[in-house]
Amino acid sequence: MREGGAGPPITLVRVKVLVIGGGAREHALCRSLSLDPDVTALHCAPGNAGTAEIARAHPVDVMDGAAVADLAESIGADLVVVGPEAPLVAGVADAVRARGIDCFGPSREAAAMEGSKAFAKEVMAAAGVPTARAYVCTTPEEVDAALDAFGPPYVVKDDGLAAGKGVVVTEDLAAARAHALACGRVVIEEYLDGPEVSLFAVTDGETVVPLQPAQDFKRALDADQGPNTGGMGAYSPLPWAEPGLVEEIERTVLRPTVDELRRRGTPFSGLLYAGLALTSRGVRVIEFNARFGDPETQVVLARLRTPLAGLLRAAATGQLAGHPPLLWSDGAAVTVVIASHNYPDTPRTGDPITGLADVAEKDEHAYVLHAGTRAEADGRIVSAGGRVLSVTATGADLAQARERAYRAVDRIGLDGSHHRTDIARAAAGL
Ligand code: AMP
Ligand code: GLY
Repeated sequence: MREGGAGPPITLVRVKVLVIGGGAREHALCRSLSLDPDVTALHCAPGNAGTAEIARAHPVDVMDGAAVADLAESIGADLVVVGPEAPLVAGVADAVRARGIDCFGPSREAAAMEGSKAFAKEVMAAAGVPTARAYVCTTPEEVDAALDAFGPPYVVKDDGLAAGKGVVVTEDLAAARAHALACGRVVIEEYLDGPEVSLFAVTDGETVVPLQPAQDFKRALDADQGPNTGGMGAYSPLPWAEPGLVEEIERTVLRPTVDELRRRGTPFSGLLYAGLALTSRGVRVIEFNARFGDPETQVVLARLRTPLAGLLRAAATGQLAGHPPLLWSDGAAVTVVIASHNYPDTPRTGDPITGLADVAEKDEHAYVLHAGTRAEADGRIVSAGGRVLSVTATGADLAQARERAYRAVDRIGLDGSHHRTDIARAAAGL
């Protein structure tokens, strides 16, 4: 118990945490957890060259629930945090919980909110949550009828997991049709106009705690040109958003969805990510994800002042109702993703990365979160994936955070890499 306080007694959580995954999101999670005084040991599996600097690294097949649970047991973890969607959809959180270890992340059944767009649509319909009208199609005839019913711009989505790259939005009927036929089972839906917002909620299946909203940049190139990616940058907060937006989304989207999943006997415990369009006719859900978003997590956690481990553990143990209100910094955060040559197509890997020490030394308010990186035996850091680094900075406002982020980006060298130059530009009023 905390001594001498006037408020309710708070139990100190001394917690050993294991983070599963190896992207910039996991580096951001590890960074926040490493700053939490209640975290007595921090492990990350498999991690990357960045997490290895702050968390003990373990090789593991993240898709193998028994292997993840074995690892958690062997290191005496009190809390496992599963970062990516694929292991959640495969039931890795269930395998950990089955050993009696607390786990932040939904069950296999609840993770279908991300794993199957058709299932998410069904839950939203039952819960009265506003989303694009959609048809699930499996034959060329159904595809043609759905494309014809909605007209351009066409929105065609692979039903299963596709790392943000299974969605085609196009005016070109032939391209829409070709993507639909290549996918097999597809969701074809109404086009939603208006700005996009990502809002995350931590939930234990009953209580819902929204975090601060962020905006992601999904297209590969400046001015939203080029193909969809996993996300090329993000910022938070959203100075252009109406006051009350978070409360509205909580009331119309997050709570009804969490309530409906509990009513079905598949309560969602973990991080529910709502991807939303603010259309001329109101808020509409574009998609749900069952985990922290990448790169939005980098900017949301940069501003969260509440220690992370206690929050995640409260969710994992069904005690979120008793958690104190979240504290946020008043400032802003911006992250810029540096992607390898040819991302999102077939990214080139193995290129040396330079300038990391320069950022650490010279940029007080910026830091580099690693995504696809690997340390070579000689200590050199090389690229090992499509999105390589997520350069994050904080500032008093978006203009300052963005200036600091881009100054740090300019210090980094990676042959053939590319990044967007317009992250948070419009939102900063520039
Ligand atoms: P998703 O994987 O469902 O998030 O889709 C990826 C991106 O495609 C979204 O962030 C949007 O930019 C775009 N998108 C998806 N669905 C729609 C829609 N119904 N209308 C307009 N754009 C969409
Ligand atoms: N930022 C998009 C995602 O995490 O899916």
